[in-house]
Amino acid sequence: MEVSRPAQDYKRIFEIIQQLNTTYDQQSLLRKICFAAKELINTEAAAILLLDETGGQRQLRFAMSTNIKPIEMEEIIVPLEGSIAGWIATHGEPRVIRDVAQSGTHFQGVDTRIQFRTRNLLGVPMISHKQTIGVVQAVNKLGQADFSDEDINTLRTLASQAAIAIETARLFQQSDFIAELVHELRTPLMALKASTTLLKRSDLPATTRDSIINRLQGETDRLIEMTNDFLDLARLESGRSNLNVDHFGIYELIDESIDVVSSQAQAKEITIQAEETDLIAEADRGKIKQVLLNLLTNAIKYNRPRGQVAIGTRIVSGDDEDEFIEVSVKDTGYGIPQEHQKRMFQKFFRVPTTEDVARGTGLGLTICKHIIEAHGGRIWLESQVDVGSTFYFCIPLAKV
Ligand SMILES: Nc1ncnc2c1ncn2[C@@H]1O[C@H](COP(=O)(O)OP(=O)(O)OP(=O)(O)O)[C@@H](O)[C@H]1O
Ligand SMILES: [Mg+2]
Repeated sequence: MEVSRPAQDYKRIFEIIQQLNTTYDQQSLLRKICFAAKELINTEAAAILLLDETGGQRQLRFAMSTNIKPIEMEEIIVPLEGSIAGWIATHGEPRVIRDVAQSGTHFQGVDTRIQFRTRNLLGVPMISHKQTIGVVQAVNKLGQADFSDEDINTLRTLASQAAIAIETARLFQQSDFIAELVHELRTPLMALKASTTLLKRSDLPATTRDSIINRLQGETDRLIEMTNDFLDLARLESGRSNLNVDHFGIYELIDESIDVVSSQAQAKEITIQAEETDLIAEADRGKIKQVLLNLLTNAIKYNRPRGQVAIGTRIVSGDDEDEFIEVSVKDTGYGIPQEHQKRMFQKFFRVPTTEDVARGTGLGLTICKHIIEAHGGRIWLESQVDVGSTFYFCIPLAKV
């Protein structure tokens, strides 16, 4: 006989739903949903897969899980055909698999990759406005019990509320982002307009004309750079940016990045030094280069003339057995007051005292944080006003 759910369980479901409705950050929202599913259904693990339509092909991707690391999730693409989650997403119905080994439809790619054994699972679709956006799965029921009808109903309730919360968070982020984007684009556009108006004057000396044209070029370059940053960030925030993980020598990448910024450094007579190392990273090389370039550019931009930049690397251990490469970028610049340090990685944040020192949008470090966290790493800083700042980040060390 089915035992119906005690009143405190309903109270807990309500509490969770309320929390979901006030979380607008997609990642925190997904994390809350996962842990709620694991708790309410009493399972060993839970995961969320979201439908992804990039490249014209519909597929499912792990967006959050209580037991899979971000870097491993990035690599797992679950096909719609021949997988349990795919069946749930295409049929829009819940499904219980009591014995995964017997069912034959489990997508084995997942377990082999993460070394986890899925014994049984309950999966339900997340549907918002009649559209399936993904699947929530509760994996390996704890104790002797089987998934009950109550479990199915509970997970269904959670999933339908979760779908609405995810849609809301996406919209919320979009409108916020668009408002700020338009605001940021206005400044260089106004400068462009002023320059073109001036250029129309017929009595303009040739030298003035040249300097206006140079300024026009500078502003258009900046607009292009800004729009690229916006696109990068939009992609990273929606989780659509996939990592291209590879093994590469970190020193070669550092060296290559220094090359890119060397003329900028020379212009301020800043010297850049990097410790040689043969450590091999396991990460998306292009994206880590983007991180290094932004940190180096900042270390030059917010440095004094004739200042120094030093790059170091070392191995550190993570929470598990895993090892990471810690990269540090140290400068002798203006430093960042303590009260601003917490906000450094927020979108559009710029330290008010250095706003006039160099131009920028305040997106660089936000992009860095997204990239590093997508690798399961961490980024942080230490800084002292008038002495300088050191930015640190960790990325996975390649296993040999
Ligand atoms: N090495 C540093 N020393 C001092 N201040 C820094 C340093 N790096 C960053 N900052 C401060 O943090 C702010 C945010 O940096 P971030 O890289 O996100 O944006 P930005 O450099 O202003 O613009 P962009 O989007 O072009 O990178 C900067 O505006 C600056 O005030
Ligand atoms: Mg920057």
